[in-house]
Amino acid sequence: MELPFSESYKIKMVEPIRKSTREERERWIKEAKYNLFNLRSDQVFIDLLTDSGTGAMSDRQWAAMMLGDESYAGASSYYNLKNAIKNILGFDYFLPTHQGRAAENVLFSALVKEGDVVPGNSHFDTTKGHIEFRKASAIDCTIDEAFDTTLDHPFKGNLDLNKLEHVLVSNPKENIPMIIVTVTCNSSGGQPVSLQNMRDVYAMAKKYGIRVIFDSARFAENAYFIKMREEGYADKSIKDIVKEMYTYADGMTMSSKKDAIVNMGGFIALKEEDLFKKACQFNIIYEGFITYGGMSGRDMNALAQGLDEGTEFDYLETRIKQVAYLGQKIKEYGITIQEPFGGHAIFIDAKKFLPHLPKEEYVAQTLAVELYKEAGIRGVEIGTLLADRDPVTRENRYPALELVRLAIPRRVYTNNHMDVIAVALKNVFDRRESIKQGYKILDEAPIMRHFTVELAPAVKTEATV
Ligand code: F0G
Repeated sequence: MELPFSESYKIKMVEPIRKSTREERERWIKEAKYNLFNLRSDQVFIDLLTDSGTGAMSDRQWAAMMLGDESYAGASSYYNLKNAIKNILGFDYFLPTHQGRAAENVLFSALVKEGDVVPGNSHFDTTKGHIEFRKASAIDCTIDEAFDTTLDHPFKGNLDLNKLEHVLVSNPKENIPMIIVTVTCNSSGGQPVSLQNMRDVYAMAKKYGIRVIFDSARFAENAYFIKMREEGYADKSIKDIVKEMYTYADGMTMSSKKDAIVNMGGFIALKEEDLFKKACQFNIIYEGFITYGGMSGRDMNALAQGLDEGTEFDYLETRIKQVAYLGQKIKEYGITIQEPFGGHAIFIDAKKFLPHLPKEEYVAQTLAVELYKEAGIRGVEIGTLLADRDPVTRENRYPALELVRLAIPRRVYTNNHMDVIAVALKNVFDRRESIKQGYKILDEAPIMRHFTVELAPAVKTEATV
């Protein structure tokens, strides 16, 4: 008999988590103004808010922390990280930053000016935020197939070359500082970009003299999907695929909190020396000296080790099979989710789950709150709240998809937890018709409102009258 699949690690340290009652959760979420970001973590049983910075470090990473060099300048930890970036990703120049959005802030300070356009594949919200904050626009060139959750396509993160070329021909070159390719594409469901698409985008970019930057938070998961799905890559190692991916990029921003499996950290890596020098100035102003940039030496050491572990096949297989295990269970209950399953998360199609709710009542947020009330599971809305208002008209932007993301922390939960999540979701699904109202906004920030938004039930219920 063939042995069943099992994890490629064993557990050396555990952290207790606590269950709560429905009454407690109803009180807590009301006090949190129906914003899951406002909950205390001990009010949550299974926390799927994000896979960012929530992973479990390995014994080797912890050991590397003990060897951290906390020198202000030229620490050995900086050189360890520099070597890992050169060996695994192939870049000569790099700048540490405290996390991914800090890398965006530093790099875009050097690159983006008012009136610019930045084409890409469904830019992540902080990426878009940093572009729009500079009065430039992020133009989404993702393929249309990405917006149909039920359509099977192996690389739903791909850029549509026609859409991209249209942007490149209809704007002056000096107003296009870069094309951003997000691997995997978080906003379209943790979907990968194919190597062929990377190659085509890069060729087109070079034809028009534009640089390509990879937003690389989940680059290793992207490489895993290339190995599993793209012709000609089945026998290549993840590290070989990663190397090839970055031959089609001039630079990258990295949130190390994802695929490098650390709790905090980020970096910029570049091929161009001139741009590196320009970015150094902003790094010093915003982050710290160029050999630590907001990271302690021990954290740079753990990150260097994490880059190596995060690009190992056995680890990635364990990780992505767990996400697929959850996806398969949820699907078996008849719930529509983004397919194929993403690398870091399962995305539930909230409009198909709650078709009777009007879009003005924040459908995905409503579902996320219901799942919390059901079993203390915290997911996150990827829908109208996240999409923010149009910066010019200030109208709500209604995205094509209203999703609830269940992001799975790396090396943290077991498949028993996955079973609890799937059944909790089924229970909400079974009573979906009794969910008669969504939410309205009481207070919101002008940009990236989803973090702090305050909500109330859209219609007065007996409880609130
Ligand atoms: N790019 C992508 C694709 C991301 O998913 C994130 C963060 C960032 C950039 C910013 O990195 O958080 O280190 O500043 N995504 C997290 C998430 C927050 O939950 O998906 P950061």
